[in-house]
Amino acid sequence: MIGAGAWGLNHVRVVASEPRCELVAIVDRDPAACARGKELAPGASVLHDPEQVFADPSIEIVVVATPAPTHANITCAALAADKHVLVEKPLALSTMDAQQIADSAARSRRVLMVGHLMVFHPAIARLRELLRSGALGFLHYVHSTRANLGRIRRDENALWSFGPHELSMLDHLLERSPVSVTARGQCVLQPGIEDVVFLTLRYAGGEMAHLHLSWLHPRKERRLTLVCSQKMVEFDDVAPEKLRIYDKGYDRPPQFTQFAEYLTLRDGDVYIPQLPMDEPLKLQLRHLLDCIATGGRPTTDIASALRIVATLEAAQRSLASDGVPVNLGT
Ligand SMILES: NC(=O)c1ccc[n+]([C@@H]2O[C@H](COP(=O)([O-])OP(=O)(O)OC[C@H]3O[C@@H](n4cnc5c(N)ncnc54)[C@H](O)[C@@H]3O)[C@@H](O)[C@H]2O)c1
Repeated sequence: MIGAGAWGLNHVRVVASEPRCELVAIVDRDPAACARGKELAPGASVLHDPEQVFADPSIEIVVVATPAPTHANITCAALAADKHVLVEKPLALSTMDAQQIADSAARSRRVLMVGHLMVFHPAIARLRELLRSGALGFLHYVHSTRANLGRIRRDENALWSFGPHELSMLDHLLERSPVSVTARGQCVLQPGIEDVVFLTLRYAGGEMAHLHLSWLHPRKERRLTLVCSQKMVEFDDVAPEKLRIYDKGYDRPPQFTQFAEYLTLRDGDVYIPQLPMDEPLKLQLRHLLDCIATGGRPTTDIASALRIVATLEAAQRSLASDGVPVNLGT
């Protein structure tokens, strides 16, 4: 485990509780972080330099939860040392660094997985099934809010900090990249680092997604709404009932006599499916272990991470021009 800070400790807890793993070492430059990790995993040794892990052939898997600017170097070094790697989001802060990681992964025989956690959320798995089955009809648009009064970062703005979650969900649900992106934001607390970003994505089929990303917001909101032709769905990750499927919309009757009958309102039932309560971080780790055991390709593989970093980079360019749309191609 490299990086045992605020988030890394969650990995320490999850890895330490997974029967198929043995947490061999916790590496962090900060002795206090190591001590907190050691409390959760008393059997692990404490190290201060990732090189010590790379030099130990008995260590098979490296989890990287250090700050984003360090991901590229640590991940490439771990792959070169023949380790399987789970690296936290954002994979990198530029497509150049992300491509360098992709090149290292291509040279390696090991599994590289990116910690796009939301893809492993049971609600997202159900939402994907619903979309693929056609039960929701055609997707018109997505609206998403990821906001709270939360941790302010210095290495990255709200786009790079929160955007990977929303973009990985969209990539997984829609199974395609946007063709253009528009972003506008505001730097309130630190010069040059946007605390709030509003992002609009357009897709080749005409679908749109609007994302509100902010760590300067009165309360925690994690809501993804899909408006489709047959049903509308709301995924609210802070609510006890995570998924609500609304039988709402407008129908076009095959025959009508007056203009008022051309579209008829459907305001039907709301269905709340039962979802398994599995922790996404545990599911993510189990998926990594399965891929290592079977030689399978992770769902959150380098190809999907490259698409997400490319979208983030395009959004950053749009942000710099105060919202000029940036094309991503198809
Ligand atoms: N998937 C999620 O939901 C989620 C949530 C929060 C954070 N994250 C990601 O996890 C990563 C870490 O975030 P955090 O909030 O824990 O940050 P943090 O600053 O709290 O922790 C980072 C830790 O890494 C250590 N570190 C820095 N450079 C190091 C190096 N070269 N070698 C060893 N240790 C080093 C620091 O001492 C620190 O303890 C970030 O990429 C962040 O985006 C993901």
